[in-house]
Amino acid sequence: MKTLDDLPDLNGRRVLVRVDFNVPLTNPSGSRPVVADDTRIRAALPTLRELRDRGARLILVSHLGRPKDREPELSLAPAAARLSELLDTDVQIAPAVVGPEARRLADELPAGGVLMLENVRYEPGETKDDPQLAAQLAELADIYVNDAFGAAHRAHASTEGVAHLLADRAAGRLLEREVTTLTQVLEDPARPLVAVLGGAKVSDKIAVIERFRALADTLLIGGAMCFPFLAAQGHEIGNSLCSAEDVELARRALDSWPGSRAELQLPLDLVVATELSEQTEPNQIDGLDVPKGQMGLDIGPRTITAFGGVIANAGTVFWNGPMGAFEYEPFAAGTRAVAEAVAHAPGVTVIGGGDSVAAVQRFGLADAIDHISTGGGASLELIEGKRLPGVEALA
Ligand code: 3PG
Repeated sequence: MKTLDDLPDLNGRRVLVRVDFNVPLTNPSGSRPVVADDTRIRAALPTLRELRDRGARLILVSHLGRPKDREPELSLAPAAARLSELLDTDVQIAPAVVGPEARRLADELPAGGVLMLENVRYEPGETKDDPQLAAQLAELADIYVNDAFGAAHRAHASTEGVAHLLADRAAGRLLEREVTTLTQVLEDPARPLVAVLGGAKVSDKIAVIERFRALADTLLIGGAMCFPFLAAQGHEIGNSLCSAEDVELARRALDSWPGSRAELQLPLDLVVATELSEQTEPNQIDGLDVPKGQMGLDIGPRTITAFGGVIANAGTVFWNGPMGAFEYEPFAAGTRAVAEAVAHAPGVTVIGGGDSVAAVQRFGLADAIDHISTGGGASLELIEGKRLPGVEALA
């Protein structure tokens, strides 16, 4: 994978930068939408600053949401406005993704100037990796930089097709750091390597479980994902979230576990309730059989202590997925405790995107984590051992 260090002199050159500005928007007063969480925009700043310092003219391309058509509420204008503030420079938004107007604006950019193209998914060719759209994007620039780790698992025109058309291409600093950090977790982690997995469905993460079964020293499983395992072990799971397909996957994983590198640790106790709401009274059960009519919604205190001890002794911790329904205060204790344990762990700590990122942010612990991935789907696919088209194209 080539990096910014491999690029030639950038002074006055037009650089097409694929960023992942797929950020949440809000318009509380019904006025113009604004960016609700600018984490992904901030994450691209090191690359954008470096390219500007090297005299490049920047043409930024990103998707936002999954528009079926040219939906105005999915315009990238709010992201361009936020970037303007962060870079303290004017960031113009092009009225289109490609075409004569976008080309004129790109050509007129001064050295260090920044132009944001409209939402690339307004073009139906984007998700089809259409060669014509890729060629139109390539016409806008001399050099291609991909810093959109969050979209690197997509083989789209702006992440894959266009990369092959510009000989000078490279990973931006964010994409470089994401790939290097996650690859290190897999290939050369400080040991013991502890993987903490939670979230809703075993089927979504079975490939990740399999990978860590072979690579990690300990695998801690919490969240709703533990119920298929508990059901497969013969426990009562009451009304807990659990599909028959997931129980079958868990049963097969448990049957073939002996002899695996990783020790599997499931919860020791649970917090249960009759329904999921802020008002529900949570009940701790000192065991794993969920009473009839109730559902498991968090890990219990003995589990918190056990998981916390394993995390504290890790050389590397990878965490993906909450330990319970942490969005509801009565069921947040397990996820909060794991977030604190990861934040205070002396080892290398990596959070693999998605809900665990929301959790560390909510608990004010994000700054204490070594690496928080900006790509949920992309980081899991990389962990699974899949090739990421956006990364492959930068070879
Ligand atoms: C994400 O938010 O996970 C990335 O931006 C990718 O978005 P997508 O799932 O719509 O391709």
